[in-house]
Amino acid sequence: MKITYYGHASLGIEVGGKYIIVDPFITGNPQAASINLSTIKADYILLTHAHPDHVLDVDAIAKNTNAVIVSNAEIASYYAKKGFNSHPMNHGGSWKFDFGKVKYVNAIHSSSFPDGSYGGNPGGFVIEGEHKNIYIAGDTALTYDMKLIPLRTKLDLAILPIGDNFTMDIEDAIIASDFVECDKVLGYHYDTFGYIEINHEEAIRKFFDKGKDLMLLPIGDSIEL
Ligand code: NI
Ligand code: MN
Repeated sequence: MKITYYGHASLGIEVGGKYIIVDPFITGNPQAASINLSTIKADYILLTHAHPDHVLDVDAIAKNTNAVIVSNAEIASYYAKKGFNSHPMNHGGSWKFDFGKVKYVNAIHSSSFPDGSYGGNPGGFVIEGEHKNIYIAGDTALTYDMKLIPLRTKLDLAILPIGDNFTMDIEDAIIASDFVECDKVLGYHYDTFGYIEINHEEAIRKFFDKGKDLMLLPIGDSIEL
């Protein structure tokens, strides 16, 4: 499984020969100016919730690629009405796709589209690939629900928001990594706006001091699991 960081909460995942884009917000992020949207491959677009900093580039990518949009029922039907391919899910439910199994899990946040449409309840994803399993938390507070994840899935990587203000901060993300029983963490949802700027060295050291590994990828860089 290969994971590419496209800035903010946007990820590319290559798994089982398929390409997945998560929460595409690229053209609205000056820090991601080096990423060319038109070259992004996608068989699936996974959306954690409907906020503009997670769905801005969905229409463009879906038009380019015919990707299937996977999200909660409200977000899936919002895009289905626009003529896009979609797969509706809801919290606690899983589906076996051709690249692996996806579970839509709880997040504590909000979810409404930029035009005010109802975006259902926000979530995260657990993806079980052929060899590796990951958790993408989405925008969320620290929640005891995270403890449910390792009851079913042994994670190889947890992708957690760390920017504070709208989501967990570093300290809560460290506790979240305990809850999901995964010491390898990719941080996201930081530095994009003034509200969520973090000190990178301090964040990495705080994880290190608890025996955990926090990765902060330069935009466009990838990790292989
Ligand atoms: Ni949000
Ligand atoms: Mn957000």
